[in-house]
Amino acid sequence: MKNGSKLNNEFEKVFRMVVVTAIIVAVFSLLLGYLIINPNFFDNEMANPEDSVEIILQNDGEDYEKIENGIHVATGFVDAPGMKETIQNCTNCHSSKLVIQNRMTKERWKTTIKWMQETQNLWDLGKNEDIIIDYLVTNYPPREKGRRENLTNIEWYQLKE
Ligand code: HEC
Repeated sequence: MKNGSKLNNEFEKVFRMVVVTAIIVAVFSLLLGYLIINPNFFDNEMANPEDSVEIILQNDGEDYEKIENGIHVATGFVDAPGMKETIQNCTNCHSSKLVIQNRMTKERWKTTIKWMQETQNLWDLGKNEDIIIDYLVTNYPPREKGRRENLTNIEWYQLKE
């Protein structure tokens, strides 16, 4: 019976492999099925910031990357250095409009970010913080409302006595 038990052993090994494979396939099918039913599963507000743009890119395809007249169509952000980091970190909880409609100095952008970190669960932005703040001050500085532009090319004339 020595030969027989050896065969049995081999059979058991193969059988176990088949069972394990079947379980793996089943789990993946379930996951895939769930994602098909609910494709926005990973798209929740607090999603990992690094992933979110990738997921949006997948969801919306090429349209999401469309830039028209220097404006990123999907978010309305000005296309400039730092836009990608800003989209990745600043459109997860609220609309980009909330960012765009606010024009602030560097200090106030910093304070706003700190406020969100302390009260709204905004994550540590790491080295992206400076990139984002630079992007925001460069493209969304405070507007000087009601103040006319400085006059240029003025032709002064000599007062005659
Ligand atoms: C973790 C969630 C979260 C993220 C990420 C986030 N914010 Fe906010 N932010 C909030 C919440 C909550 C509010 C308050 C919204 C409201 O008042 O309706 C807010 C408000 C704001 C406001 C308005 C502040 C005011 O005084 O009215 C600005 C501007 C802003 N966020 C900019 C940003 C920028 C820039 C980033 C990227 C660095 C960012 N947010 C990322 C949660 C977030």
